[in-house]
Amino acid sequence: MRPLRVALAGCGAVGSAFVEQVADWNRRRRGRGALEVVTVLVRDPSRRRRGIDRRSITDDVGAFLAAPAEVVVEAVGGLDPALRIARHALASGRPWVTANKAVVARHGAALATEARRVGVEIGFEAAVGAGIPVVATLRQALAHDEVVALRGILNGTTNFLLTALERGAAWDDALAEARRRGFAEADPSRDLQGLDAADKLRILAWLAFGVDPASLEVDVVPVSRAGAAGAVMRQVAEVRRDSSGIRGCVGPVEVPRDSALGRTTDEGNLIEIDTVGAGRIRLSGPGAGGRATASALLGDVVAGLGLAAGRGP
Ligand SMILES: NC(=O)c1ccc[n+]([C@@H]2O[C@H](COP(=O)([O-])OP(=O)(O)OC[C@H]3O[C@@H](n4cnc5c(N)ncnc54)[C@H](OP(=O)(O)O)[C@@H]3O)[C@@H](O)[C@H]2O)c1
Repeated sequence: MRPLRVALAGCGAVGSAFVEQVADWNRRRRGRGALEVVTVLVRDPSRRRRGIDRRSITDDVGAFLAAPAEVVVEAVGGLDPALRIARHALASGRPWVTANKAVVARHGAALATEARRVGVEIGFEAAVGAGIPVVATLRQALAHDEVVALRGILNGTTNFLLTALERGAAWDDALAEARRRGFAEADPSRDLQGLDAADKLRILAWLAFGVDPASLEVDVVPVSRAGAAGAVMRQVAEVRRDSSGIRGCVGPVEVPRDSALGRTTDEGNLIEIDTVGAGRIRLSGPGAGGRATASALLGDVVAGLGLAAGRGP
């Protein structure tokens, strides 16, 4: 059986880790359900990329979309060309898998409608909580249950910074260390302002309450230098349903050191889901990093192509 072909947009921290994990998957599967990354979209096609044939690399979105592939994976970020890639993948009847919270938070509902219409899967596990399977938990395991509220730490960059400050580091040193470890971008303002966590909260609210993620209002309060020093602060994102509707908020909160939120340190993420039937469910793990995020992408590719993982019943 020939390998199933993957078109990969983006080969940065996440995309390059995805290429490595595809190679690991193929080794473990010894040919059964093998995957092949046949085309890779980047900004700079002149750079060498480990594990990728130079001839597969392009900076031409049209050529990338025209290449024959069974599944399209996007790890570019931003809205353009990510949204164009998503729409084209679905219009051509191919599963679309993404790590892009911005696209899912703004256009997820319309893309899901289109995916249902054409009968293909969309996967966005990697867009929230990196490798923590919170999307699958809400979409499948808890789909029958009633969610009352959902809260947690959804931004690894800010959490890394806040934990370093709690341990006595200076703001600029903590930020430099977060960048060095690959947990913060050159400009972390979206993280600190709470906008990244707000996008992730919108996606979770969609799955928990059925609201269009683009229409959910989220109040955001930025994390600031002044408020963070010394205390056990966490950027907490919360959405709940009450008599006035469904409301979201993101902002810095001082929490008890020995609480689940206080024990979530460094790039860790935590999601607590309060349900009527199952009670309080807690999911935690690394919430940032190329490897953890790529693992979620690969999980969605395998599911989207209907490949069995080969373990258990
Ligand atoms: N890093 C994480 O920890 C993490 C965690 C969860 C989710 N995510 C999400 O994963 C996605 C990718 O993140 P990342 O950290 O891997 O980003 P990154 O390291 O900056 O990589 C972005 C990749 O996209 C390519 N690219 C950017 N703009 C492009 C354009 N206009 N046309 C073609 N290619 C373009 C870049 O090409 P060049 O290589 O040529 O520059 C690069 O290969 C984002 O949506 C991010 O939010 C990341």
